Amino acid sequence: MRLALQDRLFVLTGAGISAESGLATFRGSGGLWNGHRVEEVATPEAWDADPELVWRFYSMRRRDALAAQPNAAHTALARIEEKLGDRFYLCTQNVDDLHERAGSLRIHHMHGTLFQSRCVRCNKSFPDQSFYETPDLPTCKTCASPIRPHIVWFGEIPLDMDNIYRELDCATTLLVVGTSGSVYPAAGFVDIANRRGIRTIYIGPEEPLNTHAFDDIILSPATQALPTMIELVP
Ligand code: APR
Repeated sequence: MRLALQDRLFVLTGAGISAESGLATFRGSGGLWNGHRVEEVATPEAWDADPELVWRFYSMRRRDALAAQPNAAHTALARIEEKLGDRFYLCTQNVDDLHERAGSLRIHHMHGTLFQSRCVRCNKSFPDQSFYETPDLPTCKTCASPIRPHIVWFGEIPLDMDNIYRELDCATTLLVVGTSGSVYPAAGFVDIANRRGIRTIYIGPEEPLNTHAFDDIILSPATQALPTMIELVP
């Protein structure tokens, strides 16, 4: 992936980039949590049926993310961003904050963030590192409505897609790391890139579902492949 001075890099990351920090991927780990399919605790229907179960799931994920450290792949992307400045854009499906803790600045969490919550009525998000693991669930100080995780659940629309598509429209290379290519719209970014005729590269230990759509597939864990790319960026 040698880049030239005028190149603009759009990076899409998924759960695989945080796997070597000890955070379980969704589909790789069997997709189960306490006997529930992850999809069953990450939907508006699950929230309506059992908000306590949903908060226990996200409290556990907050605990896991707080205990994890960024790995060499997160750090490599931050180093590449240092070189490229505003010719770099990172869109992540991950809700952990490991990219930020590695130093990434131009980052967009399309599926929300683990360390924010929001009122279901006022809709305003706010920083929140608390664990809610009892029936005593949080409510809004303004309107007393329930507080939910600031996460995009299955069936909900990812955050700020207009900006993501604008960035994809002016990129010259799409680099995708550690995502199975099974959840849209992120899995369709490579098709948009192909329609524009820009270079597309995938990094991960296994082929993603949309493997046929990429120009290059680098079958390697992210911590091995990404650090070697720093020198290829001017
Ligand atoms: N380096 C890079 N990739 C890896 C590594 C690694 N060390 N280990 C595993 N992977 C890859 C797996 O091969 C797999 O293709 O990471 C991918 C993880 O896939 P998923 O578990 O499906 O995660 P992701 O694609 O991010 O899921 C997308 O689905 O559950 C929802 O909203 C959730 O954002 C998530 C979305």
